[in-house]
Amino acid sequence: MITLGIEGTAHTLSFGIIQDEKILVNISDQYIPETGGIHPREAVEHHTKCFKPLLIEALKKANLSMKNIDLIAFSQGPGLGPCLRSVAVAARSLSQLLSKDLVGVNHCLAHIEIGRKEIGNHIDPIVLYVSGGNSMVTGFEEGRYRIFGETLDIPIGNLLDTFARHVGLQHPGGPKVEKLAKNGKNFIKLPYVVKGMDLSYSGLLTAANNKFTEGANLNDLCYSLQEVTFSMLTEITERALAHTEKDSILLTGGVAANKRLQEMLKSISEEHNVNFYVVSPKLAGDNGAMIAWTGILQYQHGMKLNLAETKIKAKWRLDEIEIPWITK
Ligand code: ATP
Ligand code: FE2
Repeated sequence: MITLGIEGTAHTLSFGIIQDEKILVNISDQYIPETGGIHPREAVEHHTKCFKPLLIEALKKANLSMKNIDLIAFSQGPGLGPCLRSVAVAARSLSQLLSKDLVGVNHCLAHIEIGRKEIGNHIDPIVLYVSGGNSMVTGFEEGRYRIFGETLDIPIGNLLDTFARHVGLQHPGGPKVEKLAKNGKNFIKLPYVVKGMDLSYSGLLTAANNKFTEGANLNDLCYSLQEVTFSMLTEITERALAHTEKDSILLTGGVAANKRLQEMLKSISEEHNVNFYVVSPKLAGDNGAMIAWTGILQYQHGMKLNLAETKIKAKWRLDEIEIPWITK
């Protein structure tokens, strides 16, 4: 079976093609705003303009044509409404025109399942999913991924990007903050806000921005920002691990690329004697292969959509979805 996965929840349009379990191609084109954050209308223009050439390129790389595709999977949510709608319209049209089955995939679930595909599907980890739009600690329990802890306001990637913008660094901010943090020496105190299993970042962002305006050294500030924000994530991950007694941790999402965050999680996994996995960089950010792979899992469990069920789900939560492919 050959599956085409289409990702387009926010800044990235991406196509992945999977034959059985093999990823044949996974290519993306990212919209990078000239100024400020993502403008949904511009992101849609980007996706619309790139859709046809990028799809043609993906098919060419896989040495296939659309008639070889058996199944179409698309990112149905959560994400920016206009972006989701543009991708849903395209996916629906392709499926109708070519009489192909269609499945709608939850973007967060796809980040997790592509990670599990990579580390081994028998592994049932505590997952720390950190990206521009999400910060959550989750794990499989009684038929679903339960969200054990999450941000109460802004996600970590958004915090890093917004802070970076404030201090004059270009989008995306995460990698730039990481680079400057390496030269930081002095710790600047910032608010550490963990409430039960959840965390809050908005006060911390304001505090960091203010410190910069007051003249704090940028390297020191980046270093301190990483230490505080990542310690908060590590604390709630450790608690979820202790609560569930799972034997591994999986780090996924765009922020998973950060070496300091990896180091902190590795350290708690050693303390608890559990395995630590990081999704490889090519599969950690938004990509079409993760949508294709999760689409395959859903399709194998009868979760294909009829046309009326293909409406976008901009606020779709991970814990709403039944997961029949993990049996415990
Ligand atoms: P989602 O829709 O899943 O929330 P997303 O649209 O934000 O994801 P991703 O590619 O998963 O897209 O993540 C992008 C985020 O990852 C950005 O906020 C970016 O700054 C951050 N990021 C990328 N590399 C690093 C890094 N090395 N350190 C910290 N953050 C990083
Ligand atoms: Fe993502």
